[in-house]
Amino acid sequence: MCGIVGYVGKERAISKIMIGLKALEYRGYDSAGIAYAKNKKVKMIKKKGQISNLEKHLNYDENTNIGISHTRWATHGKALDVNSHPHHQGKITLVHNGIIENYDVLKKKLEKEGYVFKSDTDTEVAAATIDSIYKETHDMVEALAKASKTLKGSYAFAILNDDCLDTIYGIRKDSPLIVGLGESENIIASDIPAITHVTTSYVIPNNYDIVVLQKDKVKYYDQNKKEITKEIKNFSLKEETISKNGFDHFMLKEINEESEVVKRLISLYTDGEKVKDLVDISKYKYIDIVACGSAAFAGQIGKYYIEKFKNIRVNVYFASEYRYQKNFYGKDTLVILISQSGETADTLAALKIAKENATDTLAIINRKDSSIAREADKVIYTEAGIEIAVATTKAYLAQVIILLLLAIKGFDEEKSTIEDLKLLPNLITKYINNFDYTKISKLFVNKDHVFYLGRGIDYYLSMEGSLKLKEISYIHSEAFQAGELKHGSISLIDRNFGVIAVVTDKNVGGKTISNLKEVAARGAKIIAITNIHDDNFSDEKIEVDDINDVINPIITIIPMQMLAYNVAKLKGCDIDKPRNLAKSVTVE
Ligand code: AGP
Repeated sequence: MCGIVGYVGKERAISKIMIGLKALEYRGYDSAGIAYAKNKKVKMIKKKGQISNLEKHLNYDENTNIGISHTRWATHGKALDVNSHPHHQGKITLVHNGIIENYDVLKKKLEKEGYVFKSDTDTEVAAATIDSIYKETHDMVEALAKASKTLKGSYAFAILNDDCLDTIYGIRKDSPLIVGLGESENIIASDIPAITHVTTSYVIPNNYDIVVLQKDKVKYYDQNKKEITKEIKNFSLKEETISKNGFDHFMLKEINEESEVVKRLISLYTDGEKVKDLVDISKYKYIDIVACGSAAFAGQIGKYYIEKFKNIRVNVYFASEYRYQKNFYGKDTLVILISQSGETADTLAALKIAKENATDTLAIINRKDSSIAREADKVIYTEAGIEIAVATTKAYLAQVIILLLLAIKGFDEEKSTIEDLKLLPNLITKYINNFDYTKISKLFVNKDHVFYLGRGIDYYLSMEGSLKLKEISYIHSEAFQAGELKHGSISLIDRNFGVIAVVTDKNVGGKTISNLKEVAARGAKIIAITNIHDDNFSDEKIEVDDINDVINPIITIIPMQMLAYNVAKLKGCDIDKPRNLAKSVTVE
């Protein structure tokens, strides 16, 4: 979701800024813009569409050493040049990630003060709000402290003020913002990949901290205008640098990294025979797993594992629902938040609610130092490395493995399951390379609708497989419990339908096969991902190994990811940056 980069320093700013902005493309956007200071004036260029479109209007040699920029994922107002950021009101020019919830009320008040708005955005209202307060205070730190009490919702801002064009101001609430500290240059951005070309040292401001960024110094203030010190951290360039390593797409590269991720998790979180002391979930009577999208689907697999081994009742909730529904909190409940980015607004809100209700929280997170990782009582990192493709692959698999490790800790099966997990890296490589996915995918490339069918754990996996296909290939796809189909949805099935069947669970596999015969009889084409080798129930078959009912679901995800990838590739879709999607969903 929206990306922010601001630079002030010894170098020409436009090139520094654009390197950072391109590194944030993965977040998803529909327009881009920049504002920079030249001859004591702010110049602003904003274009809808790709960053390359904005670049056509830029002069990289422009003599400027300070600027702010933005990739916008539209929330208020269409993707138009005029709605793109930065926005300018009075002396204030700013870029924003988040949503100002009370912008309508503020807008009416500001219009009475004489402000005229050109865009449909909440951000322009934020610019006017800060300008209006600054007119009284003549002090930006005070103006931002006051504005943060007026603006409701979530925000990360990078701001220029006409009165001091050697300074970028920053402030955040619930949206990500980091400050990169270089030598005679400093940078402020939404995420680490945007600052790697300037520095490996960074600071994460807390909610409401005010950042004052200049070429040779950065200062931080609290809400009372008191200067505060912040901890400086360092990241490893290797982990944060973005490269496709010769693969056509980040998604394919990331699928190929899954074997390494599994090896890393086994070596980090087990001693080879036993799971290390991560978090003892056995003491809880109830567990709520709260997450969004794929992370919630990983949670469904976690429910299966935890209930099977630990005999604890687990509920899985989408965070967008959990934060507003009735929940049962207390000392006997653990809330597990799962998130790749660690910045998903709904999941972060759910975490806060659980904490406010004195309930223990555990976060399973990929991005180090992200908001959810910082705020949860306990955190386990998925250690999948930076994930750029919007469609998650390796982070999802890592989430599933962490949940399995938590579930098996202390059980007879602990040692044998770790042994089985050690088989995964080779199996992953085998499943990436041994099947002719292009040929198999051709069966579905012209379909408008696909159902994923499975029962039990196979259904939980289907949910993730279905999401993968729909998000990157734009084929309408839904996962169904195979037995539920004939209670309504089978009426849709005809020869234009594709069905992907996941059949690994021996207890119910035969029943799923009967359901598949029913859809085949109505003309649907079927691709089966299965470890049942001696029965013919599909048009194409991807035969996976039969390890056991704990490991089988994990290996099945690789063919599902590869199928989605190959269908999208055959359709010529923008695989790494699907339309309308954002990698990190930092607004509600
Ligand atoms: C996955 O392919 C999706 N892009 C999406 O569902 C994602 O899993 C969801 O938005 C949650 O993100 P998070 O893991 O960063 O919290």
